[in-house]
Amino acid sequence: MSTPGGPAPRGFAMPRPGQAGVPGAPAGEQEGAAGEQEGAAAGEAAPPLAPDEKVDLAAQEQALRISQMLDRLDAEFIGLAPVKDRVREIAALLLIDRLRGRYGLTSSRPSLHMCFTGSPGTGKTTVAMHMGELLRELGYLRKGQLVSVTRDDLVGQYVGHTAPKTKEVLKRAMGGVLLIDEAYYLYRPENERDYGQESIEILLQFMEAHREDLVVILAGYADRMDTFFRSNPGMASRIAHHIDFPDFTLSELLQIADLMLEREQYRLSPAAREAFAEYVRLRMSQPRFANARSIRNAIDRLRLRQARRLVSGGGLIARSDLMEISAEDVRASRVFAGTPDATAADPSGS
Ligand SMILES: Nc1ncnc2c1ncn2[C@@H]1O[C@H](COP(=O)(O)OP(=O)(O)OP(=O)(O)O)[C@@H](O)[C@H]1O
Ligand SMILES: [Mg+2]
Repeated sequence: MSTPGGPAPRGFAMPRPGQAGVPGAPAGEQEGAAGEQEGAAAGEAAPPLAPDEKVDLAAQEQALRISQMLDRLDAEFIGLAPVKDRVREIAALLLIDRLRGRYGLTSSRPSLHMCFTGSPGTGKTTVAMHMGELLRELGYLRKGQLVSVTRDDLVGQYVGHTAPKTKEVLKRAMGGVLLIDEAYYLYRPENERDYGQESIEILLQFMEAHREDLVVILAGYADRMDTFFRSNPGMASRIAHHIDFPDFTLSELLQIADLMLEREQYRLSPAAREAFAEYVRLRMSQPRFANARSIRNAIDRLRLRQARRLVSGGGLIARSDLMEISAEDVRASRVFAGTPDATAADPSGS
């Protein structure tokens, strides 16, 4: 089971407790105010509005910190335009829904279960984490934590093991987001006695009964997810938002590298930059390429090579030497020899 803050989403701003907005309170005075009361449901405390009263939408957005949240998403994620659009849409819907509630208009809580499809390393887990935070700030989730699981965390091997396992996971996810990676593995039609179906039934029950307190996000490859939904219409009908994560372009991957290097206070020398662009272009066409994750792994290896070069060089060293990655660090990669630059530390082979 992977946990938020595990290796994959490294380098990203994690959900920050204590940032839930206090409706009505000016921005800047809110730090830590609502965080203590675990997701003090953002709109709940807001007073009802008279039918002829007007509200300033921008101020509402400000109070709920939606813009900051979305700006952060923009700044921390390169590309992913369709994903950002959908997140904006959902945020807008939730804001309007809150206001409708305050005017006494029906505001049935919109269904928020989602499905994220896309290739490995396109940011699904990281966005799921941001989603938890966003929904907490909007008052839709009490806590907004992310519990990330795969089939093995939900399904038992023996009779009677699956229900307690699935329920235990669901219990941990209450108040937050349950991300089920490669959700289609829950369903194995070829095996009659598979317990995956039992887990699916329990998930469905919870998704319906606890929709106020739990958002389930299924993640995986689009084609397999389609097949899964076809065989599990009950699941398909409970997922309101389908978001497709596109592969990154070469230029986006290079921007992601810059972002990651900057965060870690490294930089590429001009020659290294050129070599790295070549590296990424080659790596993209090799097996087991995993988008942004391959970039992250490549950077980890650049750091190793830089360290080895500096240590074996000996002598005096300056701060800037410690920061700079040289072309030689990049070109030592096996990718230039036409073989994937895999090491034991990099099972994805990137
Ligand atoms: N748009 C982006 N901009 C910058 N960095 C990104 C972006 N998307 C992903 N990353 C980084 O790439 C790495 C992999 O992302 P993440 O784990 O979210 O991908 P994933 O889609 O969940 O992959 P998988 O399908 O293998 O589970 C993380 O380190 C993440 O921070
Ligand atoms: Mg993931």
